[in-house]
Amino acid sequence: LEIYTISRDFFMKTVNDIRSEFLNFFKGKGHAVVPSSPLVPQNDPTLMFTNSGMVQFKNVFTGTEKRDYTRATTAQKSVRAGGKHNDLDNVGYTARHHTFFEMLGNFSFGDYFKEEAISYAWELVSKNFVLPKDKLLVTVYHEDEDAAKLWKKIAGFSDDKIIRIATNANFWMMGDTGPCGPCSEIFYDQGDKLWGGPPGSKDEDGDRFLEFWNLVFMQFEQFDGGKRRIPLPKPSIDTGMGLERISAIMQGKLSNYDIDLLRDIIEHSADLTGVSPDGDQAPSHRVIADHLRASSFLIADGVLPSNEGRGYVLRRIMRRGMRHAHLLGASEPLLYKLLPTL
Ligand code: SER
Repeated sequence: LEIYTISRDFFMKTVNDIRSEFLNFFKGKGHAVVPSSPLVPQNDPTLMFTNSGMVQFKNVFTGTEKRDYTRATTAQKSVRAGGKHNDLDNVGYTARHHTFFEMLGNFSFGDYFKEEAISYAWELVSKNFVLPKDKLLVTVYHEDEDAAKLWKKIAGFSDDKIIRIATNANFWMMGDTGPCGPCSEIFYDQGDKLWGGPPGSKDEDGDRFLEFWNLVFMQFEQFDGGKRRIPLPKPSIDTGMGLERISAIMQGKLSNYDIDLLRDIIEHSADLTGVSPDGDQAPSHRVIADHLRASSFLIADGVLPSNEGRGYVLRRIMRRGMRHAHLLGASEPLLYKLLPTL
């Protein structure tokens, strides 16, 4: 068992390895490796927090800003709490929700479009990450025959592995205004030990089928909450892969909270409180690990707790983390002690 454990850890890719591998792959395909932007959007008063990789490129997609590259790749710090994409109340009780997470992405600003986006995604997933094809399936927007045909041609998926979705689950928008377009998502089947059905089925909310990569075919800019849409100057690509989700898949874990990066924080929280990391109170450890990340990165990007706006959301996240520390029996402040592990 010891030899098995040592060799498994030796061969296991860490979250840091996976992040680097993604960025290097796209660098090799001519993409500029661009640093993550801050969690407070610099160019957009309509958005509370950076909620995905495309936010820093919003004006590049719409054509009002030019950069000296037309292909980019990033690992973007993202927060989804408050605003359109809000996951706060689920965190701790599910295997996959976070307030803070990292989104890996590749972007084309009027350079390549669907065919290359799908080819790159397939090459990375099947050759570099070596995910077995029989565990993968994809969705496309129901009107997007091109995407369905490309998945068939490039990956060789049969029709039952290409699921057409008519809802806006397959039409991605940044917010009420901004760039948007139909999308195609890649799912991993974690097996029948977990409850859940494929996307589009009545059991789709279960954990069995895990969406880990969203390829958005950016084609429009929308205004007035979607009442008016105009075409972008050139069709573009925005993809987002949840780093924590792909890490869980590659590390053979059923929960994002079991990947190395989050598990270390949870074990530290368990050590300090003396409460098992895996027992009935596991949700509290998960809340603490998640909210510690969100609070620390928000504070590092200049947000401070307050009564309104961003500061209020931060205050709610911090309070929720502290309440769960209290539930674990901590009578002294706990979260700051976990910061070195983070
Ligand atoms: N913007 C898309 C998303 O957040 C893809 O990056 O899912």
